[in-house]
Order: sequence, then structure tokens, then C-alpha cells
Amino acid sequence: MNLMSLFTEPEKPSSYWAGKYKIPWDDPAFSSRMLAEHLSQDHDMASRRAEKIDLHVEMIHKTVMNGLAGKILDLGCGPGFYAERLAALGHTVHGIDFSPASIAYAVENTTHPDLCSYVHGDVRTEEFGSGYDLAMILFGEFNTFPPSEIGAVLKRMHAALGDGGRVLLEVQEYEAIKRRGGESHTWFQSKSGLFSGRPHLFLTHNDWDDDQSVTREQFVVIDAESMDVSRYCCTTQAYTTDEYMAIVTGVGFRNVTIGPAWGDANDSTQSSMRMVQGER
Ligand SMILES: C[S@@+](CC[C@H](N)C(=O)[O-])C[C@H]1O[C@@H](n2cnc3c(N)ncnc32)[C@H](O)[C@@H]1O
Repeated sequence: MNLMSLFTEPEKPSSYWAGKYKIPWDDPAFSSRMLAEHLSQDHDMASRRAEKIDLHVEMIHKTVMNGLAGKILDLGCGPGFYAERLAALGHTVHGIDFSPASIAYAVENTTHPDLCSYVHGDVRTEEFGSGYDLAMILFGEFNTFPPSEIGAVLKRMHAALGDGGRVLLEVQEYEAIKRRGGESHTWFQSKSGLFSGRPHLFLTHNDWDDDQSVTREQFVVIDAESMDVSRYCCTTQAYTTDEYMAIVTGVGFRNVTIGPAWGDANDSTQSSMRMVQGER
């Protein structure tokens, strides 16, 4: 492979959207390494630290569910941190995620098998079921799908809710996504890391596409022994507040609100988020 072409092809993020636009959450080895990041209490990378999730769950219970036990759909549920806490408050939760390690962890560690069900599946194709009081996608994952795909998921979330059921989307703020696209390129060497369990060089390259309002983060792993090159990409679609409003009302939700993130405004994992809510 010509190393000079690593970051120049394809020129537009849209070229990736036919396939490779996400980090490989669904790859078994990657998902095992990612599970360690979900569980870590040293950072808020894959999932937030426990005390922040506690606060979110309290907000969901009190302000979204009005303190009443209900039926909740958690899309991209990860290892079940939200589901377990919500079940402890009496909610029934159905979690779907395509990370094999996260779903295995959730199933093995559930303390509420009667209230929590977990399915290993892709939210773009997996059946959601029906009659939910709340359907949610948390921690900014909404923005990592192409608009057409997340639009279709949102439509199915709407259909899966009972009358008066609510949607909760924790989405990323436009400027925060744009800023990430402008971050410096980096490289480092590692004996073992998230993208490879073997010694490797790790290079990152970010760019922002103003025409499409998209940040593309590219990750390149060069294996230290074999020199094999693996490339990954995370494409994040930015939307303005008006665009979020149009998308959510466009699939039929009423009384849509877009509020600030929950928690400490000085915490960048919170301040870069917005809470979108609506009612069926
Ligand atoms: C940032 S993590 C958040 C996990 C969890 N919601 C939390 O906050 O702890 C995003 C999750 O979405 C899942 N995910 C991404 N795309 C998905 C898809 N197409 N189908 C199912 N799960 C998906 C990933 O596997 C990952 O567990």
C-alpha cells in the first residue's frame, strides 16, 4: 500500500457512508477491548462514569417517566448500565446493541433478569417490539449514523411507542462536532490498544466537511511486526438545533423540546450534548 495515500483517499466522507463510517463496535475482538473502556472509571469514553449515569437515570426516571414505572427501549444500550439502574427503579427495559462483548456482559451481569432483556442486534434492522413508554438513544450515537439511516430508525422508534410514549435522544451539539474535525492529527506507538492487541503505530487524522456538516475521524493502525495497515473511520453528522427539531417533528413527534445536557456544564462530555425529547 502507498502510505502517502493513507489520508487522502477517499476525499469526501460520503465515500465511506456506503460502509465504513463507524468504529468496529460489532467486531468481537474490538468489542472485548472496548468493553474494558466502558467499564473503566478513569474516563467517560465509551460510557460515562457510574456517578454520571446515576444522575442521568434519576433524570430519566423523574423528569421523562414522571416517577412512574414503564416500558423502555434502549437502542445502543452497551453493557446495560442504564437498563440495570432503570430496572432497579421498577422499569422494564429492552436493550439492543451490536457489540457482542457488551451484550454478553449485560446478559451475564443483569441483576434484574425479569425486567431487563438484551438482544445482540443492529438497530437498523432488529425488531424493536411495541407499546413502549420511552425509546431512547444516548451518548451521542444518533450522530454517528448517516441521516437516512437514523431517520429510518427514528421512524421505527415512533412506531414502537404507545400513545403518549416519549422519545429521548442525547445528541451532539453542532459546534462540538465541528471543533473535533479541526483537532490536530496525532500519532503514537502502543504495545496494545483499543484498535489492536498487538504492538503498533497508531495515527489519527481529523477533518471537517463544511458542505456536509460532517466530521470524519480516521484511525490508522500499522502493525509493528507485519507492517499491515488497518484503517477505521468515525463519521459524525452535525445538525443545528433547527435541523434536530425538523427531523424529530418530521417523523411525527409532538411537543418537541431541545434542552441542555444533564449534569455539570463544565464537563465536556456533558456540555457537548443536547437532550431532545418528544411525544408520540
Ligand atoms: C457510545 S456507546 C454508548 C453505550 C450506552 N448507551 C451508554 O451510554 O453507556 C454507543 C453504543 O452504540 C452501539 N451501536 C452503535 N451502532 C449500533 C448499531 N447500528 N446497532 C446496534 N448498536 C449500535 C455500540 O455498540 C455502543 O455500545
